Amino acid sequence: MKETIIKIEKALQNELKNVQDLVALNSLKINYLGKKGKITLLKKELAKFSDAEKKEFGRMFNELKVKATTLIEEKVAELEEQAFTLKLKQEEIDVTLPATNLKKGTKHPLTIMIEEIEELFISMGYDVISGPEIELDLYNFERLNLPKNHPARDMQDSLYITGEVLLRTHTSPAQARYMEANKEKTPIRIICPGKVYRKDEDDATHSHQFMQFEGLVVDKNLSVANLKATLELLVQKLFGQDAKIRFRPSYFPFTEPSFEVDVTCFKCQGAGCRICKDTGWLEILGAGMVHPEVLKMGGYDPEVFSGFAFGPGPDRMVMLKYGVNDIRQLYLNNIDFLKQFGRLEKEEN
Ligand code: PHE
Repeated sequence: MKETIIKIEKALQNELKNVQDLVALNSLKINYLGKKGKITLLKKELAKFSDAEKKEFGRMFNELKVKATTLIEEKVAELEEQAFTLKLKQEEIDVTLPATNLKKGTKHPLTIMIEEIEELFISMGYDVISGPEIELDLYNFERLNLPKNHPARDMQDSLYITGEVLLRTHTSPAQARYMEANKEKTPIRIICPGKVYRKDEDDATHSHQFMQFEGLVVDKNLSVANLKATLELLVQKLFGQDAKIRFRPSYFPFTEPSFEVDVTCFKCQGAGCRICKDTGWLEILGAGMVHPEVLKMGGYDPEVFSGFAFGPGPDRMVMLKYGVNDIRQLYLNNIDFLKQFGRLEKEEN
């Protein structure tokens, strides 16, 4: 028995020397101290001996068990320490190395333009809302005074998904939806920026996807003068204090009267140049007084309430303001093009 105990201890010490990792150490532990481990099985042998022997061997056995446990625990600590040191070494950071330049993204010019417009309207008490890009014919056309087969539907080449569902061709359905949801609550003051879609062949001035920016105000006693004052503030914010606007009569089924709105050419200040094709003016948006039928369909009595609406195109505004001559640049994700606009961003901290 004595020899066996000494032998087991020696064997354990030898094996421990060769253990390199915690997994191997664990199986070694099981081998010695587990249920069927060498040391555990030894205990059963004790029964064979006389009481005197039992006393001596029992003590030796206990010592062996304590020793084995301690040795294994020490080895665990040693291996853990080794692993930790290694990890620290691998993760060592050389703080003297020059820092890598973190490339900062820039805002898209359309985002910059839209944020600028939002800032103005929010300061005037407007709410910024959004509407679905996949829209019902009902809101995109019918509630805007464009019943089925209305010839003006041809003004907007639509991309239909089903007979009644299409990709919105403009942001004006937001008007119809908002009126319906608010039913005679006034005043309504909203802007709704978002993407719109038309069946257009893409070229330098056309894109099947572009941005629009709906503005709608409904209240009592509104007139074209209110619309004009509002749009004046908009162009002054975007194109400078000297920017002027002019209204030309136009036609939209959902506004009456309707206007095409021009701004003085920011390049030549109205003198005439290549950008404004020598007219001194640049066309920037459609607008008008909300048609009585549209008010009525939205739940507002046109005898009591009036409204004005406008629909600028941020793409065109970006192109005019920054001299971008191909609308497709706004949708190509061309980093070299986009990063030029980084300097226009406001400092955010
Ligand atoms: N929705 C019109 C368009 O897409 C623009 C517009 C908006 C006109 C609001 C009048 C009032 O052309």
